Amino acid sequence: MDLLLAEKVLLGLFVAIVTAITVSKLRGKRLRLPPGPLTIPIFGNWLQVGDDLNHRNLSDLAKKFGDVFLLRMGQRNLVVVSSPDLAKDVLHTQGVEFGSRTRNVVFDIFTGKGQDMVFTVYGEHWRKMRRIMTVPFFTNKVVQQYRYGWEDEIGRVVEDVRNNLAAQKEGVVLRKRLQLMMYNNMYRIMFDRRFESEDDPLFVKLKALNGERSRLAQSFEYNYGDFIPILRPLLRGYLKLCKEVKERRLQLFKDYFLEERKKLASTKGSSGDLKCAIDHILDAQKKGEINEDNVLYIVENINVAAIETTLWSIEWGIAELVNHPHIQAKLRAELDSVLGPGVPITEPDTYKLPYLQAVIKETLRFRMAIPLLVPHMNLHDAKLTGYDIPAESKVLVNAWWLANNPDNWVRPEEFRPERFLAEEARVEANGNDFRYLPFGVGRRSCPGIILALPILGLTLGRLVQNFELLPPPGQDKVDTTEKGGQFSLHILKHSTIVAKPRVF
Ligand code: HEM
Repeated sequence: MDLLLAEKVLLGLFVAIVTAITVSKLRGKRLRLPPGPLTIPIFGNWLQVGDDLNHRNLSDLAKKFGDVFLLRMGQRNLVVVSSPDLAKDVLHTQGVEFGSRTRNVVFDIFTGKGQDMVFTVYGEHWRKMRRIMTVPFFTNKVVQQYRYGWEDEIGRVVEDVRNNLAAQKEGVVLRKRLQLMMYNNMYRIMFDRRFESEDDPLFVKLKALNGERSRLAQSFEYNYGDFIPILRPLLRGYLKLCKEVKERRLQLFKDYFLEERKKLASTKGSSGDLKCAIDHILDAQKKGEINEDNVLYIVENINVAAIETTLWSIEWGIAELVNHPHIQAKLRAELDSVLGPGVPITEPDTYKLPYLQAVIKETLRFRMAIPLLVPHMNLHDAKLTGYDIPAESKVLVNAWWLANNPDNWVRPEEFRPERFLAEEARVEANGNDFRYLPFGVGRRSCPGIILALPILGLTLGRLVQNFELLPPPGQDKVDTTEKGGQFSLHILKHSTIVAKPRVF
């Protein structure tokens, strides 16, 4: 009896494999697909290339298969673009065709199947969400309104670190204090709220839930169930956990922030007070432009897209400055000579400091927080440099490789800000050069660049003005091993940094 069953299973598998081969042959004949490794039925290339499709592994595959290649990850098509010209085609020339986003089983949960802005397909909903978010978040007026808040927050960081004896001796994980600062920078804009200390219970809860959301979303653990739908039942436990985290998070945003703000607005009435971002978003809800879920997903998007990316970049910047003391000293000399020793840098000063700007650009080039951009997608069949790109392919632009390819940059493996004052002096972070796209470019590019750059300048500037940043005793460098995720890149081990206060 058991033998009969085994025979049936084997026969079933045989038929499935033959069918898959025949179908893929027929498809292959009709379509001119980009090159890529040979696929095997059901698994595609997954068993060959593995789960960890980070920017470095994808750069190695580009060397083998070319500037555009296709991987079949189970049932999913993954197209990887690795040259400035093709990046231009995807993000600019055919920006509409490739302007959608893919989600996977996990991102479907965290974004309510694209009810947010970051992960929704290109269309009416995205346009509306981006328009509604622009005035409260992404204009120079917002920068001018909130820069004093950011200057205050980094001022408090400096004070806390100066008062922390451990920071001067054995060192501290500076990132922890900077995380509180980044939450305050963004929660001031969003809700006109700040958290007093790292122990604030609400901050602790929020940080834990956001951290869990990122871990679950960026992990490679769930790939198998995403790539091969028949394996999805095995993911039940993982997806259940995602759903729980998502519910608890949105509930927290609602109970502690949205409802509070609504109450405040109703007691104050509609006086001419300065509004914070959420008041604008709630106005859009009142007008019927978006619903309450959309409001919550906007809060969700800002928590992830704004806070973590900027914090990772600050963390990378500090690590590189510690590991390159001569660059740190040169930056300090610029701050001292342009502003005067001990005169705290403010937002307008950041534009008067070319070396500071170069350090920021180099950090974003060498250690890109989103090295593959946020995955793009073509809703319909498309063409790319003569190849057929089947509808709903996940399209990754390997922005890290564009900015680190020795064919396009002088000694890209060196952390050398001077390049942005010499041979690359005209290159900006806003996408004016397709070799350098830390914030993407085109329709789906990062609207937060307008906030991120001054926050980076203020934070790194104030730290270097006030402290000599060093590795902990007994170490001559901090560990900069990278940890990649589905499309993120951060430092594997949060560095312990010694911060020796300067005396003015
Ligand atoms: C150093 C910090 C940051 C980096 C490196 C960064 C990078 C990026 C990148 C690479 C993308 C995807 C571009 C594409 O897919 O073509 C993106 C999208 C996005 N970013 Fe940022 N970002 C940063 C900070 C921020 C901040 C501070 C905010 C908000 C205040 C923000 C909000 C967004 C949003 C909403 C999107 C989605 C845009 C869309 O899909 O239309 N980002 N970011």
